[in-house]
Amino acid sequence: MGKVNDMKLHTMLLALFGTALLSCMPGFIIPTTMPRGQHADHTHADVPLSAELDPVMPTTTLSSAAFGTLALVLGVATARQRRRNSHITAPRSARVGVAVAASKVECVGIVGSSGAVGQEMLKCLETRKFPTEKVRLFAKRAAGTTVPSVFGDIVVEPFSVEAAQECEIVLMAVSGSFSEEFSPKIMGGAKNTTVIDNSSAFRYKDDIPLVVPEINGEGNSSAGLIANPNCTTAIGAMALWPLHQKYKLKKVLMSTYQAASGAGAEGMAELEDGLAAYVKDGKVSENKVFAHQLPFNVIPQIDAFQENGYTKEEMKVTWELQKIFGLSDDVKVACTAVRVPTLRAHSESITIETELPIDPAEATALLKDAEGVKVVDDPESFLYPMPLNATGQYDVEVGRIRQSLIFGENGLEFFVSGDQLLRGAALNAVIIAEQAVQARAD
Ligand SMILES: NC(=O)c1ccc[n+]([C@@H]2O[C@H](COP(=O)([O-])OP(=O)(O)OC[C@H]3O[C@@H](n4cnc5c(N)ncnc54)[C@H](OP(=O)(O)O)[C@@H]3O)[C@@H](O)[C@H]2O)c1
Repeated sequence: MGKVNDMKLHTMLLALFGTALLSCMPGFIIPTTMPRGQHADHTHADVPLSAELDPVMPTTTLSSAAFGTLALVLGVATARQRRRNSHITAPRSARVGVAVAASKVECVGIVGSSGAVGQEMLKCLETRKFPTEKVRLFAKRAAGTTVPSVFGDIVVEPFSVEAAQECEIVLMAVSGSFSEEFSPKIMGGAKNTTVIDNSSAFRYKDDIPLVVPEINGEGNSSAGLIANPNCTTAIGAMALWPLHQKYKLKKVLMSTYQAASGAGAEGMAELEDGLAAYVKDGKVSENKVFAHQLPFNVIPQIDAFQENGYTKEEMKVTWELQKIFGLSDDVKVACTAVRVPTLRAHSESITIETELPIDPAEATALLKDAEGVKVVDDPESFLYPMPLNATGQYDVEVGRIRQSLIFGENGLEFFVSGDQLLRGAALNAVIIAEQAVQARAD
């Protein structure tokens, strides 16, 4: 028997073994009747997927595809197990300072605590030793469950405006429509509650600050309602802001590679379940969250198409960078947003044209000094930003920094990867909250 046939037999046996193994694994495939919030403990999705996922390459034969997929699904199972067992450890970054406990609040509330963003918010409060006496958690299906935390065991409560208003700071990790209805009702009240919202409900309102704390936190932290930017915007902004300050942006062209968890806990589960179904039945399960099958695919649509042919996700990058940076209408920002079959952390390929000449070595030095940014750029050693490495990190990785062939000495190209659940959501919101606590004390 030739080497190729040997390999085929070997991989088929492995696939059969894997399928049998999976069918013996109680609870490996999430029962569809179980609320996701209940399935997901509060450390859900916080562990980087390990290198065993790397061999996954869809190929033309079922046996070799099954081999790759088996490795991937066993990797997913391992990652899920690790997530269940993981302890609270600080992400890899010393640059973003933790909260200074000079002032303290009695209570911080998280509304949507069982979702992808909400779970990370609790972890950020824990790892950053947020100055609060207690944390209260609010959710819908997960109400009644108990979440262990460094603030003690917390019983998740059903949401009510009255209960949320008992906290000085409320972090909203719910849908835009929910936030639009309830955030204005929560803010103020007896505790002068500050609401920090993660949805897009208030981002474009002139009287509501849209904040990346390292960029425009100062002067905005005493507002009653503060909006958190879209995750794609926040990640790109960390690299673009220092460059804009020195070289003045003229044009920004961005293409994104966005993880499944950008669509929440349900999106992450659809990718995992789709792959598990492929190994078990040879067929990816039906897509419900995404417009098309995500495993073994990329989807050039995130959110609804607008009249101009761009999607809303793409326009958010334009609108939000303009608002956060205070860009004039002359500065043009365009984006193509693509969903890719990774679990967590978004990546972006960014090309800029600048008013002033921009030297790649000088720009690299500038980025190395920027808060919340980590330069990973040593192509000869195969080092560049990747979502697997960015996962769980506070800092946004920037690399592949080079002079642009299009814009010459006034242009730069680079690649960024950032954890969209941290910099793009939970971490950003918690740093805003730290600044708000400070502002309340001043
Ligand atoms: N995922 C990301 O990467 C990301 C990044 C930036 C911003 N955001 C934004 O952050 C927000 C949350 O996103 P997500 O991805 O975390 O969504 P998600 O995983 O779907 O979680 C939604 C949360 O809302 C809760 N919820 C729903 N209805 C509720 C109600 N009536 N009362 C109380 N809680 C309720 C859910 O509770 P149960 O599950 O217990 O029912 C769950 O905890 C969205 O506005 C999203 O656009 C997301």
